[in-house]
Amino acid sequence: MGETPLQRPMTTVVLAMSADGKIADAQHAPPEFGSAEDYAHLERQVAAADGILFGSATLKAGETAMRVVTPELIDARLQRGQPEQPAQIVCTRSGDLDPNLRFFQQAVPHWLVTTQSGGQPWQEKSHFEQIFTHETPSQSIDWVTTLGAMAPLGICKLAVLGGGQIVAALLAEDLIDELHLTVCPLLLGGTATPTPVAGNGWLQQEAPWLELLSVKQIESELFLHYRRRR
Ligand SMILES: NC(=O)c1ccc[n+]([C@@H]2O[C@H](COP(=O)([O-])OP(=O)(O)OC[C@H]3O[C@@H](n4cnc5c(N)ncnc54)[C@H](OP(=O)(O)O)[C@@H]3O)[C@@H](O)[C@H]2O)c1
Repeated sequence: MGETPLQRPMTTVVLAMSADGKIADAQHAPPEFGSAEDYAHLERQVAAADGILFGSATLKAGETAMRVVTPELIDARLQRGQPEQPAQIVCTRSGDLDPNLRFFQQAVPHWLVTTQSGGQPWQEKSHFEQIFTHETPSQSIDWVTTLGAMAPLGICKLAVLGGGQIVAALLAEDLIDELHLTVCPLLLGGTATPTPVAGNGWLQQEAPWLELLSVKQIESELFLHYRRRR
C-alpha cells in the first residue's frame, strides 16, 4: 500500500505578546520584550521547522530572519536529515521588498510567496531560490495551493512567525494547526497596535476555538501551547 501524499505542511504559529495581547509597540518596532528564555524557545521552534513563514511587514520591521545559531540545534537538524537552516519564506502580495535588505545577505534559503504581479520583478533576480505565485481570482494568495506546493519541496513543518495579518489569512482558511504564545509581563496598549490575529475578525459563534496542550511559567512569562480545535 502506498503512503498517503502529504497535502500540506503542519503549521505552528509562534509569537510573543504583551499581557494585553499586543505583538509590537505603537511604532511597530521589532519585539524586544521577550526574555532570554523566550528567545531560546523561539529558536527551538525555528530549529524544529523545515520552513519559516512571515509577512513583509514583519521582515521590514526586523530586516533579518531568525536563523538557527546554537550548534546543538544545528547538529540535531543535520542528524534528522534537515538542511542546516530552514527555508525563510517571506509573504507579500505586492512584491514590494527592498532588494538591499540585510535579509538577503543572510546564509539561509530565501523563498517568496506572492502574487503573479508581485513575483514578476523577482523572477529575473537571484534573491529567491523559490517563488510561489499561486493566486486567487481576486489577486490574493491562494494559500491552500501554496502550502500544498511546499510539501513536495520538503516543508513538512512550517513555523509561522507573524505578523497578525499572515496569521489571520491562514486561520481564515483553517490552515493553522498549533500556536505557541508567550505572554510577557508588560502592557503596550494602543488601538492600531498589531495583535497575534489581524484581519476582519469573527463573530464569537464562528470563532476558531483552541485546546490548551500545555502551559509553563518561567518567572513572569507564560508559555502557552494551543492546538486548533476542529
Ligand atoms: N511579537 C512577536 O512575536 C512578533 C512576531 C512577528 C511580527 N511582530 C510585529 O508585528 C508587526 C507586523 O505584523 P502585521 O500584522 O502588521 O504584518 P505582517 O503580517 O507581518 O505582514 C503584512 C503584509 O503581509 C502581506 N499580506 C497581508 N495579508 C495578506 C494575505 N491575506 N495574503 C498574503 N499576504 C498578505 C502584505 O504585504 P505587502 O504589503 O508587501 O503586499 C502585508 O502588508 C511588526 O511590528 C512586527 O515587529 C511581532
